[in-house]
Amino acid sequence: MSDSNPIDALTALEAEALAAIEAAEDGDTLERVRVTYLGRSDGRISAILRGLGQLDPAMRPKVGQRANQVKSVVSTALEERSAALAGPAAAGGLDLSLPSRPRWKGGLHPITQAVDEIWHIFRDLGFSRARGPEADTEWYNFEALNTPLDHPAADEQDTLYLVDSVLLRSHTSPVQMRTMEQYDPPIRIIAPGWVYRRDTYDATHTPAFMQIEGLVVDEGVSFVDFKATLAEFARRYWGPDTQVRFRPSFFPFTEPSAEVDVKRVITRPDGSRHETDWLEIMGAGMVDPNVIANAGYDPERYTGWAFGMGPARIAMMKHGVDDLRTFFENDVRFLEQFS
Ligand code: PHE
Repeated sequence: MSDSNPIDALTALEAEALAAIEAAEDGDTLERVRVTYLGRSDGRISAILRGLGQLDPAMRPKVGQRANQVKSVVSTALEERSAALAGPAAAGGLDLSLPSRPRWKGGLHPITQAVDEIWHIFRDLGFSRARGPEADTEWYNFEALNTPLDHPAADEQDTLYLVDSVLLRSHTSPVQMRTMEQYDPPIRIIAPGWVYRRDTYDATHTPAFMQIEGLVVDEGVSFVDFKATLAEFARRYWGPDTQVRFRPSFFPFTEPSAEVDVKRVITRPDGSRHETDWLEIMGAGMVDPNVIANAGYDPERYTGWAFGMGPARIAMMKHGVDDLRTFFENDVRFLEQFS
């Protein structure tokens, strides 16, 4: 701006500002224009107003008046442009006030959620995660686990064979042996995975299902450790009032063996509390010394406990679902309740 003609300079500045406002296509650009001309610290119009004191006293009122006028014209233009950019016309005729279309949001399958929650509790108790192949040999699935092939559990009716002596594992217990072969004690693992049986598909059976194996082996491990760990797991998963019951049972690879039931306390919507029935959640027991020996560990020195848990059953119990098949038919209307 030349000192000799501040009024002309202001008029030029006004035209320049108005052109920049008109050219701004979005709010960010418009904001930059505002700062350039009207910014409090170094906006070009603001600077002129601030510099009035240095002008010849005779020119001061005129220049001041014109500068204020330019400031107000530019402010009004900024407001109008800002409103226009936000309005429907600015979006090429789109009505930006229309509610958006609903979008599908994915979620974890309820059985996956149960597996994760269970695994996370054991992880917090110091367990690692292990895995093994779904197609395994008779040795790992049966014989190494102290189960002769003529045992009813090894009967072909229950097991899906792929080729001679290779089968789809009928439980996650083969991961016990595979882990012990690979590592020295102490062992503390959780091994979730798919298992397969020749079961008829009905409300409580599917030919493929998830199991979660647990195994602890070390010196001096006793059934008391198992009971305490299981009780702690149950309280963390279902709440502090959960009770755990051990019933004698039989598995070829554990001695003694047990089936574990839980009884929960649920709070009804009206606030009343109610005890559920006992529900079986797993087979378990002290690892048979023959299994410890098959792993190459000294059975005089090492003892352990193991369990095989059914997360689908646990998810059914948790969500009050009474037909296992609903979990596998992938009807989104059913599944989306859990995400
Ligand atoms: N593998 C057994 C089953 O599938 C469960 C189990 C695991 C029992 C570990 C004892 C110890 O039924």
